Amino acid sequence: MAKAKTTYICSACGHTESKWSGQCSSCGEWNTFEEKTVSASSASASSAFFKGSGALTTLSAVKAEDSHRYDSGFKEVNQVLGGGIVPGAAMLFSGEPGIGKSTLLLQICQRFGSQGKILYVSGEESPGQIKLRANRLGIDAAIALYTGTDLDAILQTIKKEAPQLLIVDSAQTLYSGEAGMIPGTVNQVRRCAHEVIGLCKEMNIACFMVTHVTKDGGIAGPKAIEHLVDTVLYFEQGDHEVRILRAIKNRFGAVDELGLFIMEEQGLKELTEKEQAQFFHRHVPAGAAIACAYEGSRVFFHEIQALTVPAKSGMSRVYSERIDASRALRIAAVLEKHVGLKFSDQDVYVNVSGGIRLTEPGIDLPLALALYSARTNIAFPSVVSAGEIALSGEIRPALHMGKRIKSAKDLGFGIFSGTGIEKSQGIKVLAAAQLKDVIAQVLAECNKVIS
Ligand code: TYD
Ligand code: MG
Repeated sequence: MAKAKTTYICSACGHTESKWSGQCSSCGEWNTFEEKTVSASSASASSAFFKGSGALTTLSAVKAEDSHRYDSGFKEVNQVLGGGIVPGAAMLFSGEPGIGKSTLLLQICQRFGSQGKILYVSGEESPGQIKLRANRLGIDAAIALYTGTDLDAILQTIKKEAPQLLIVDSAQTLYSGEAGMIPGTVNQVRRCAHEVIGLCKEMNIACFMVTHVTKDGGIAGPKAIEHLVDTVLYFEQGDHEVRILRAIKNRFGAVDELGLFIMEEQGLKELTEKEQAQFFHRHVPAGAAIACAYEGSRVFFHEIQALTVPAKSGMSRVYSERIDASRALRIAAVLEKHVGLKFSDQDVYVNVSGGIRLTEPGIDLPLALALYSARTNIAFPSVVSAGEIALSGEIRPALHMGKRIKSAKDLGFGIFSGTGIEKSQGIKVLAAAQLKDVIAQVLAECNKVIS
């Protein structure tokens, strides 16, 4: 018989080590390692989800799987999931406590109710509390509700109910007597999630497994079970009350799709593209520029803000969290060299409205316009831009310029700055090849004279 082995698991991120250590080398948290004894059979059980047929075939002889998807009732959720809820998909739904996970899932139930049977397992709230929330949200879909945390009882209930959609709120409350004494440990969460997801796969049940993101190392976080699921969703807080839904792993669609919501009195409301644009730039003051960014497979508009003040110490510094600080430094240097605007004696602050981190190359140009606007105090209303900037000051087209321009026009922007497309109906395109000329064009459009 194979010997049992002792390993140590970080309760914050699920990283394993063969020896105990004070600090996790993967996530940096302190005192998070828990001892775990792994028998040979349980170690191999972690790959028990997909057993395969054991027979040899050719790819051309394999029938494609059914591409049917359930409608979640939210355009944004469908988009983030890659077109809707895939039957039998295991989806991890993570976020900080209070962000709105239970609210969004209950709202999804409303639309799902007409497409299939729902089982909602709650280990956190009483039926009365859930009913109160459902009333507030106006949910009247048929939902089988089970409150409890015992894994075996939950598995029995799933078998008996045989729903098409299972919601487990939350994975951290599940408890199996065979996985140690304390709920919420990596051992418990992994074991229970594994059993529930395994059963859902067998029965072709789509499952949302809620996991709270925790700062406290005592409770296992979502990282501990990300490898068990098809899709990993994060629900995060942006600025201005905007909540961002994001897929960071998705076997059924693109990752990096974003869905934007705001929490209202009657639950979460998705922001349409138009509302999103209005939300971010009702007013574009000096020191701000609107970026037309492309993320996932969609165009988004974000306000990039910049502020410059004389450097406090002899050295100028860049403070930028949502855009890489080295990028802000590079663009400031290009402006100094090719446009003649001095930044080397300034402290520069950069921010993105909406709390979103921007990484795509096409935000160089709006970042340059925001920095220029901050330094000169000239506002650029109605201008939206996209483009990469080379160190030579040359503007290069970003990917998908056609889609970006179309979205900008649809949302009512008057001027688009960026190379790649020279003309477009209904929106003025400024397609200069050098940053210096772009600035001159934008200034001319805004009725200013370059000094
Ligand atoms: P909740 O879904 O319970 O968060 P989570 O499951 O992620 O912990 O919702 C959290 C907050 O949302 C709570 O503070 C109350 C607020 N809320 C509203 O503002 N409007 C609503 O309609 C609902 C249901 C909740
Ligand atoms: Mg909740």
